[in-house]
Amino acid sequence: MDWGIKNRLNRLIQPDGHCFFLPIDHGYFQGPTRCLEKPGETIKPLLDFVDAIFVTRGVLRSCVDPADNKPIILRVSGGTSVIGKDLANESITTSIEEIIRLNAAAVGISIFVGSNYERETLLNLARLVNKCENYGIPVMAVTAVGKELGSRDSRYLALSCRIAAELGARVVKTYWCEKDFDKVVKGCPVPVVMAGGPKCKTELEVLEFVYDGMQKGAIGINLGRNVWQDAHPVAIARALRAIIHENATAGQAHELFKEIACV
Ligand code: 5RP
Repeated sequence: MDWGIKNRLNRLIQPDGHCFFLPIDHGYFQGPTRCLEKPGETIKPLLDFVDAIFVTRGVLRSCVDPADNKPIILRVSGGTSVIGKDLANESITTSIEEIIRLNAAAVGISIFVGSNYERETLLNLARLVNKCENYGIPVMAVTAVGKELGSRDSRYLALSCRIAAELGARVVKTYWCEKDFDKVVKGCPVPVVMAGGPKCKTELEVLEFVYDGMQKGAIGINLGRNVWQDAHPVAIARALRAIIHENATAGQAHELFKEIACV
């Protein structure tokens, strides 16, 4: 691995081998998501607790202070919306020149395995890897599931993750699952980061699934709604950080959450 790509990965994945990414890219297909109407305001109190933010170029330019210096994972796929025909019909939205101009530490792109656009989204990933690797920029593949999250089990997730890694993703973001998540991680030769999905009912539920996933080999999280839609975003971010970087159990992290949130 060349110096540039190693350096970018090291900015994202901390010396303990773990990472906490904060996605605020939801608007690229679902518009002004609740609590993300003003992304710049949403992230301000959270930046100290996360290792990178996952964002589109538009929100980056208009809402993120370049002086913040937090590593950026640039969302570079899109072209669909929640009211359109098929969420999976994505293309690459951002040129390599723009990726470099915005000083991205990495880029993120969705793949939709098993969808009507499986081939297109997988070839999008392969093309992006071909471009980005020339400049030492790591690609994070997002194994997207559209509206079918409930029906996706470890066999499906393992298939998606492995394909993403085979096509050259340096990191794969996928969903945690209750059964056999360790098989998803073991079958993927590059680091796996857990996505959040819709907001959980309780904070303990979030902390428990994150703890379980870390025990089963994930290197970290890319959690959005379960952080900034929480009633106490700073407290949950701090509690998640304790699991990711301070070896806390879900119970210990929950105690920390309650202490900070004063609940
Ligand atoms: C969409 C994404 C988003 O980054 C993702 O949804 C993560 O955020 P959340 O934790 O809210 O699900 O990649 O495919």
